[in-house]
Amino acid sequence: MAVVDDVAVAPVTLLRTPDQILGPFYPVQQKPVLTGDLTRSGRAQGTVLHLSGRVLTSAGTPVARARVEIWQANAAGRYAHPNDGNPTPLDPNFDGFAITTTDEQGRYTFKTVVPAAYPAGPGRMRPAHIHFKVIGEREELVTQMYFAGEEWNDRDPWLQSARRKDALIVSLHDAPDEPGAKATTFDLVLAYG
Ligand SMILES: [Fe+2]
Repeated sequence: MAVVDDVAVAPVTLLRTPDQILGPFYPVQQKPVLTGDLTRSGRAQGTVLHLSGRVLTSAGTPVARARVEIWQANAAGRYAHPNDGNPTPLDPNFDGFAITTTDEQGRYTFKTVVPAAYPAGPGRMRPAHIHFKVIGEREELVTQMYFAGEEWNDRDPWLQSARRKDALIVSLHDAPDEPGAKATTFDLVLAYG
C-alpha cells in the first residue's frame, strides 16, 4: 500500500505594513484619476515612476478587489490641495490623486512621477513620499511610501517613528521599456485582508 505523507506547509507570516498619518493633504475637492495614469500620458513634469505592487494578507494571500488610493506632491513638491501654502507652482499635467482596484492576484499599478520633498514648517522638510490608503474587505490601512537615499529621510519624525521603517522605503530602478523613467514595487500587507 502506498503511503502518502502529509506535507506540513509552513504558514507565511507577513507583518502588517506600518500605519502612517493621513496628513493634511488628503484630497477633498479633487476628482481622482481612475485610469492609473496620473501623468496625462507622460506629459507631467519630472521623472515618470511606474509604481506597482500587491496587497496581501499576513498569510501571504493576495487581496483581490482592494481599493488602493494614492495622493502625492508633484515633481516640485506641491500638492493640488487648498491647504498647501507652498508657493511652488502646480503642474497642470499632473493629477496627484488616483484610485484603483487590485486584480485577482492582488496587484495594482500606477503611472505617476517621483515627488519632491516639500517644506513642512519653519526649517523643516518632509522627504519625498507617496501617501497610500488601502481598503480591503475587513480593514483599512493608511501609510506612506518613501524613497531610499533621500536626504530628509533621517530627520523625518513620521518615518523615523515607524516601527519598521524599512518596510516603507523603496528603491528605484530604470523602467525596462521607457528611457528615463523609473520603476518600483511596493507591497502592502493587511492583517486579514
Ligand atoms: Fe505628504
